[in-house]
Amino acid sequence: MKKNQNTQPALKAVFEDDFYIGAALSLNQISGNEPDSTALVEKHFNSITPENILKWEEVHPEPKKFNFEPADRFVALGEKNNMHIVGHTLIWFNQTPDWVFQDESGNSLDRKALLERMREHIFTVMGRYKGRIHGWDVVNEAIASDGRFKECKWFEIIGEDYVLKAFEYARQADPNAQLYYNEYDLEKQPKREAVLRLIRDLQSKGVRIDGIGIQGHWFLDYPSIEELETSILALSRLNINVMVTEMDIGVLPFYPVDSELMDLASFDPETQKKYNPYPDGLPDSVQKDLADRYGGLFSLFHKHRDKISRVTFWAVHDGQSWRSYMPISGRTDHPMLFDHHCKPKPAFDVVVKTAQSRK
Ligand code: GLA
Repeated sequence: MKKNQNTQPALKAVFEDDFYIGAALSLNQISGNEPDSTALVEKHFNSITPENILKWEEVHPEPKKFNFEPADRFVALGEKNNMHIVGHTLIWFNQTPDWVFQDESGNSLDRKALLERMREHIFTVMGRYKGRIHGWDVVNEAIASDGRFKECKWFEIIGEDYVLKAFEYARQADPNAQLYYNEYDLEKQPKREAVLRLIRDLQSKGVRIDGIGIQGHWFLDYPSIEELETSILALSRLNINVMVTEMDIGVLPFYPVDSELMDLASFDPETQKKYNPYPDGLPDSVQKDLADRYGGLFSLFHKHRDKISRVTFWAVHDGQSWRSYMPISGRTDHPMLFDHHCKPKPAFDVVVKTAQSRK
């Protein structure tokens, strides 16, 4: 560890009385191949989430094949460091293989067969880590931006109650695990209202849900602090934990996420420059904007620390962030508190100060 990093306060200590400070870990980090990342994780974070290795396509790639080795390591790492361990994610429309929705001849499953497959997956994956993974993102991203259910195979074949069924199976698989619903764009009203309705409906049917995850893939200028505060307050009225689960602040120009994935090299040089303006590092002015932005967000989280139970960053450092390869691959984004060399950025100091000055 570099000398100056030893003198930095630990984020988890700074926010000890407020909420867990989490990080999403890549396979490389889980495998111990990035010693600098491991040092940051062990020093600063008291909660971990796996970026990919518990998604269906990774942990259950074929009907009778489960790949638990990476997840075993992930859980062992969390236990060694006495961390709050989060499983991500059981039921999602994305990163789920096609076979999940088909029989052996490639025909679409019916509702009953798909529910059985869902149950088997949840019982097998959660069951293996019963009592060891403390909270699960049971369902990820079920609602579309217009507030309707997102069109996906789970919804198409099972119907609206696929969410309810997933929570029921998860509760049976590990009655003591916390169960979460995880979603993006909760700052936008139609979606937020729909998610509130969905969760209230589950609650009215006796389904216990313990937390709502606000993903937090944000930008320097979006969403506003006011919009986010409205969301935190509205979601907290569900009387469940509110969590920020996938935080990162993209500093590159926005490119529509729903468009096809692009490769930066396929653009002409001028467009490349436009969409990838900081390949060699952040200019001081943008570094400051990022620090101010993080400061504003953490002031808000700290203000609502009675409602927020965890803030998880969706990477340990800039070099790991998905934002450099989605929706355009080959860019260099700078969304985290630690830079491409695992060094704390000005945003780190601002986040620490914001919390300390409000104690
Ligand atoms: C979603 C998912 C995450 C991750 C991110 C970034 O938010 O929940 O698992 O895939 O997108 O790609």
